[in-house]
Amino acid sequence: MSRFTSVWVCQQCSYQSPSYLGRCPNCQNWNSFVEEVIETGSKSKTARGEQRIINHKEIKAQNLAEIKGESVERIPTGIDEFDRVVGGGLVRGLVALISGEPGIGKSTLLLQLAHNLGSKHQNKILYIAGEESASQIKIRASRLGIVGNNIEILEETDVDRIVNVITSSKEKFGLIIADSIQTLTTQDLTGVAGSVGQIRECAGRLVATTKPEGIPLFLVGHVTKDGTIAGPKVLEHLVDTVIYIEGERFENLRLVHTVKNRFGPTDEVGVFTMTDTGLQQVSDPHELFVQNQKTPSAGSCLTVTMEGTRPMVIEIQALVTSTPIPNPRRVGSGIDHNRLLTIVAILQKMLSLPLYKEDVYVSVSGGLKISEPAMDLPIALSIISSYKNKPMPSGSLAFGELDLLGNVRRVNNLDKRIKEGKKMGFKNILTTESLSSLDKFHI
Ligand code: TYD
Ligand code: MG
Repeated sequence: MSRFTSVWVCQQCSYQSPSYLGRCPNCQNWNSFVEEVIETGSKSKTARGEQRIINHKEIKAQNLAEIKGESVERIPTGIDEFDRVVGGGLVRGLVALISGEPGIGKSTLLLQLAHNLGSKHQNKILYIAGEESASQIKIRASRLGIVGNNIEILEETDVDRIVNVITSSKEKFGLIIADSIQTLTTQDLTGVAGSVGQIRECAGRLVATTKPEGIPLFLVGHVTKDGTIAGPKVLEHLVDTVIYIEGERFENLRLVHTVKNRFGPTDEVGVFTMTDTGLQQVSDPHELFVQNQKTPSAGSCLTVTMEGTRPMVIEIQALVTSTPIPNPRRVGSGIDHNRLLTIVAILQKMLSLPLYKEDVYVSVSGGLKISEPAMDLPIALSIISSYKNKPMPSGSLAFGELDLLGNVRRVNNLDKRIKEGKKMGFKNILTTESLSSLDKFHI
């Protein structure tokens, strides 16, 4: 008879202890112990060793050239922006981790996915509700206008009972959603729900059940701002795809992208807005980010940023106001603060703008966060435009990296950006070819 018991294992040196230890007596590392399940009393060590030798004879390496490549069959979810992010639809046996801060819209997106797949394909969808009650999910479903004939809600947090439900179900599920992995536990471990050991073991048991059956599995994992505390990081090795939902909680914009994808690209971005009736896809993001394209106002500069492989026209706004304070303010939202300080310094030195007497506020439209160097030029131009109180020439668009001498450098994906700008009807595209340095810019 085999029996399960748990041990605490140091993650640095594999030292085992029957109980939790704060510091490893072997390698002296602090907080390195994680609880793991072990099987005892099944077979003696020698018996297992013999078994291994017998199996060993049957194992043969395969020649790479002779291995048949499988063509992956895609199951479209019907949400185009989501399909694009995962590489064209779900794959049989896919295990995906959906991460994001609490309240960002993970449960909403998954319920919408469950509805779409459930109504399009015949198989039932299993939604494991570890975090909310079935009636809370019903309220969300009503808000989204989902009846849910094909969605089964399972209010359960014991992973072994969940596995039992999946294996004993007469009908094979088309998709399984575990919301969230932090609430699931197995009684084979003593740790609390959400501890690293529990998260790893529960996810492992679910994957072992769904993968051989070819059922796609979505695991929801919360992350905090610094992405460390809640533990889903430990799952990133176990899953095929890691999907992040990002956005500011009080803004509507939600960007969905993958940071790991065994079945597709990792640089696609899906753009959504959170509305009263759930997440809506935005297939033309320009409308969201550009408010006054036709009549530019002083302090506004349009640019093309790359979100993954996708060029998007967005607006950078600056407000420059004189101040009597000897230490004027420099406030940037959606951009790097040190970059803003550098650009202000370049403008003071190279264009002799007396910005030391001015407060400078810069923001990116739509709550986006931009860190790419191509935004240097539009940030600088919006500041000049606001300082001089003159709008940019109409139909103009700018992108380029600034060096410390005020020269405009080439940026990546230049052709893609220019093409997108022209497609959107911009005639005057300011980049390194048309504007080699800041002092050549006049408005
Ligand atoms: P939720 O999906 O519960 O987030 P998560 O699972 O990531 O914690 O979404 C939570 C937020 O979304 C909540 O603040 C309410 C808002 N929301 C809408 O604005 N519209 C909607 O239709 C729904 C269902 C939620
Ligand atoms: Mg949720």
